Amino acid sequence: MHFAESVKEVIRDLSARPERPTPALLCQKVGAELERHLDRVVYSNDRYMRHPILLWDEWEVMLIAWKSGQITPIHDHRGVMGGMSVLSGGLSEERFGTPQEKPELFDSRNRAEGDLSDIGPTVLHRLAPTTPTAISLHIYRPPLRTMGIWDATGMLAIMPSAFDVGEEVLAHATGVPVGGA
Ligand SMILES: [Fe+2]
Repeated sequence: MHFAESVKEVIRDLSARPERPTPALLCQKVGAELERHLDRVVYSNDRYMRHPILLWDEWEVMLIAWKSGQITPIHDHRGVMGGMSVLSGGLSEERFGTPQEKPELFDSRNRAEGDLSDIGPTVLHRLAPTTPTAISLHIYRPPLRTMGIWDATGMLAIMPSAFDVGEEVLAHATGVPVGGA
């Protein structure tokens, strides 16, 4: 079974339960499934690498492989709800408010391996690895098609959310299911 199919099953399974899945809860479950494919993750010296895992129905699942110094722009998610978990290494996350339509830092924290966070629909933030390499898992509802890109002066542009590797890397990876023979 393709990895994307196993992720769909995790989402279907959680969606049938009374507690209703948040992106962070899904990150936790999908992160456990992803352990067996992490050796396939691709790093680049040029930029952090966004790996597609699943675009399905109301959901998007994506992994980012980071190397030192690969910082994101300050960005928003155009109202999409997200969750993030750190699967290896560490990340710093800075969150900004916009009292005058310009980013103002109000929270800065380190997210260590195993950290799980909900990224609310209005979050404006910036991520950077704090370790030589890091891997983070991101889940969005609905799928993240565009992001608002900001600098100190305000919002610069709305950019499409693009991937850096093909689906063969993770989405179509096959492997022995957890608990399988
Ligand atoms: Fe983000």
